[in-house]
Amino acid sequence: MSMLRGSLAGLVLGMAAFAASNSAPVTFNKDVLPILQKNCQACHRPGELAPMSFLTYNDARPWAKAMKQAVLTKKMPPWFAEKGHFANDRTLSPETINRLVAWADNGAPEGDAKDKPAPVSFQDGWNIKPDMIIEMPNDFHVAATGTINYQNIKVKVNFPQDMWVVAAEMRPGNPKVVHHGRVMVLPPGAAWMSKAAYGEPYEEGSEGMGGAKEGTDLLGKYNPGLGAQTFDVEDSAKFIPKGSDLVFNLHYTSIGTPQTDRSKVGLVFAKHPPTKRYWMSPGTPAAFNLVIPAGDSNAEVVSEVTVGVDNAKLVYIQPHMHLRGKDYELRVTYPSGESETVFKGVWNFDWQVGYQLAKPLLLPKGTKILAIAHYDNSVNNRFNPDPGKTILWGDQNWDEMQSGFLGLVFDMKEDANKAFIQSGPSLLKRGTTAGPSLAVAEAIEKK
Ligand code: HEC
Repeated sequence: MSMLRGSLAGLVLGMAAFAASNSAPVTFNKDVLPILQKNCQACHRPGELAPMSFLTYNDARPWAKAMKQAVLTKKMPPWFAEKGHFANDRTLSPETINRLVAWADNGAPEGDAKDKPAPVSFQDGWNIKPDMIIEMPNDFHVAATGTINYQNIKVKVNFPQDMWVVAAEMRPGNPKVVHHGRVMVLPPGAAWMSKAAYGEPYEEGSEGMGGAKEGTDLLGKYNPGLGAQTFDVEDSAKFIPKGSDLVFNLHYTSIGTPQTDRSKVGLVFAKHPPTKRYWMSPGTPAAFNLVIPAGDSNAEVVSEVTVGVDNAKLVYIQPHMHLRGKDYELRVTYPSGESETVFKGVWNFDWQVGYQLAKPLLLPKGTKILAIAHYDNSVNNRFNPDPGKTILWGDQNWDEMQSGFLGLVFDMKEDANKAFIQSGPSLLKRGTTAGPSLAVAEAIEKK
């Protein structure tokens, strides 16, 4: 008995010591502000995506309990990868979560002003420090109601020399109506958009991502939560040939009142020409031939591309689907026949996150990249606009897409148009086969 009492006392003493060592109160200035600066302020500051700012104690204090809830449930920060290792992983460490929770639980004190870190300097309205800002020359008028097809706007830049871009950020002029946007490089002499007048909206069959053809590289993109894109992964950058212009490709959504928009893109140029090119063809791999049966709660859609250049490294993955999307996996099969999953995550239409690989992945020429996505086209999907309909590829949210934006770096001497070659199930005719599913892909493989 005395033994037990002794050890109990020891235990109690031990706990007291533990509590004492942790009893320095968790304060906003010392503990919480550094966490918010590092993990939250990119979105939680005036003019950015989140509805409330976390720059100061007064801003953040009313949200203490909500922050606790949001980090415990992993609702914040938004992050959806379940498999793979990513440089921009937003997942908070258990330690960080504990500190936020302790602060909220202890009355969310402000603490000593001398503990406060210097504020992060954000350049107004940008997450990068652009060397050049290119804006649409005219307002686009968004009607109060109705469906608006994708708009392409050719903007005269006529880059005076070859340029290399290490970072790009596309910013909507009017985020209320810009559902998403892209800025593409239009090299001199390109056939695509050759009939379009500068600055004027131009519609073209947008299958194949805004109708973009060979030679058009995706420079920057905007969708809520994406942020800026960086291209200096290795000694790499985006290449803009001398004499190029830009094309803004925009998906506008009506909101009940007439609106205008004038979107822009900010560019940061490389200090020295790099040895490698960062290439992102608009929408690869893509299942333009997808068929999602009415009512199917787990329809599988598979698309495939084959890498057609030497020594390419995969550096970036951004899945894309619409309202019926559930999950997305990217699997590579090397020429040796070995295969591995490089990304797997749940799909969330509101947060179209891009994933930067922690370590660039070498994909030898001939590597097959398979995207495997699932969709819920049943009544159980509360976002489903029409469970009674068989769904094909289309631009609007009530249609579907299965595509990915993959960033690949390779030597400047390689032909970028051969980087991604549609193959396997992606060569089937549009609308002919349910899926196409993995089973279809495997059957093609065996032939
Ligand atoms: C990529 C942008 C982004 C980042 C990073 C981000 N947030 Fe948010 N947050 C948002 C947006 C947008 C909303 C409002 C829409 C929503 O609730 O989904 C939001 C909402 C919230 C809410 C309200 C949740 C609710 O249930 O109403 C809390 C609390 C919050 N964020 C806390 C945080 C904290 C704490 C961090 C950092 C650890 C963080 N957020 C990081 C964009 C972001």
